Amino acid sequence: MSSTPRPRLIAVLGCTGTLGTELMRQLAQHHCILRGLLRQSQRSYPVPYQDRPARVGYVVVDHSSEEQLRRAFVGADALFLLIGSNPNQVQIETQAIRAARLAGVRRIVKLSAPIIAPPASVEVATWHRAIEAELAASGLEYCCLRPYAFMQNWLRSTYTITHFGRIIGSAGSAPKNYIDCRDIAEIAAKLLLSDQAPASPALSITGPESISYGEMAERIARVTGAPVRYNNLSAAEHYRMLVTQAKVPQWLARHIVELDELAVHVPEPATNTVAELLNRHPRTMDEFLHEHRAAFMPTRIFAPVRRFFVQG
Ligand SMILES: NC(=O)c1ccc[n+]([C@@H]2O[C@H](COP(=O)([O-])OP(=O)(O)OC[C@H]3O[C@@H](n4cnc5c(N)ncnc54)[C@H](OP(=O)(O)O)[C@@H]3O)[C@@H](O)[C@H]2O)c1
Repeated sequence: MSSTPRPRLIAVLGCTGTLGTELMRQLAQHHCILRGLLRQSQRSYPVPYQDRPARVGYVVVDHSSEEQLRRAFVGADALFLLIGSNPNQVQIETQAIRAARLAGVRRIVKLSAPIIAPPASVEVATWHRAIEAELAASGLEYCCLRPYAFMQNWLRSTYTITHFGRIIGSAGSAPKNYIDCRDIAEIAAKLLLSDQAPASPALSITGPESISYGEMAERIARVTGAPVRYNNLSAAEHYRMLVTQAKVPQWLARHIVELDELAVHVPEPATNTVAELLNRHPRTMDEFLHEHRAAFMPTRIFAPVRRFFVQG
């Protein structure tokens, strides 16, 4: 008598974030069991409880407890490993890898970051390298996804665009590569659901084109019909503005400035990775901007541009 194989159980860390939410939406369309890990019980679910086609459920876990993570992973075949960038990231993710191994998880797909070549340096990328090393030593099946910047990051930077018609940065005219995180999620879902172990320990994932901030200003202006300009600051001015005006934590301000310096020192290539992995074209920035046009529309009357923005 033949029995139906048990659906694959996939645990998802970071399921409420930008990429995790999209991954949950995509996996929920497959015949599998999804276990999203939440760190707060009051957090809204990225997709509702459902039974079909995927069975979707959630557990609340103290991410600083290896034992709670281990219990949350019991029965899982695969784990998607993502934590929002933060100074405790190495500790939490390496602990999650140990917990997954103890719980009997066979495969981990980790959201990582690109390899950074000198003279550039990006502290957050060194955190990812340390976590990747732990994963390589774990003896588990694994794959590290190394995408460039998410197009969705622009949705976190709309304030100066909608209020002042300005993009602020310190990348000069250097182009930066952007990838739609829905494309990354599709690659992750494929690796998590596959019967085969990942063929490669790491995948560099890039979007279809590299775009400077000046070009982004023009593209956003075309989509909204309102003027947008790029104000280039020095790295020091940019850092100061992020910390003192935008009230961004110092480590994050350093990260944002390092990413702009990276684009200046190490050109970000556009490659065919999405087409090769998914057999279709990657989403483009213009498609993304049209889809999210409302988020970039100006407030009714632009606030007077502060002296700070027009310098540099
Ligand atoms: N954005 C990019 O351009 C880019 C490019 C390459 C790599 N990455 C990597 O992608 C990851 C971020 O992905 P994302 O943008 O989807 O994340 P995100 O939107 O910031 O969401 C972070 C997720 O991690 C959870 N989390 C658990 N513990 C956390 C902690 N201590 N601090 C912060 N978040 C915690 C959050 O839970 P709550 O909902 O409870 O907060 C949330 O589900 C980072 O590792 C980053 O280095 C990002």
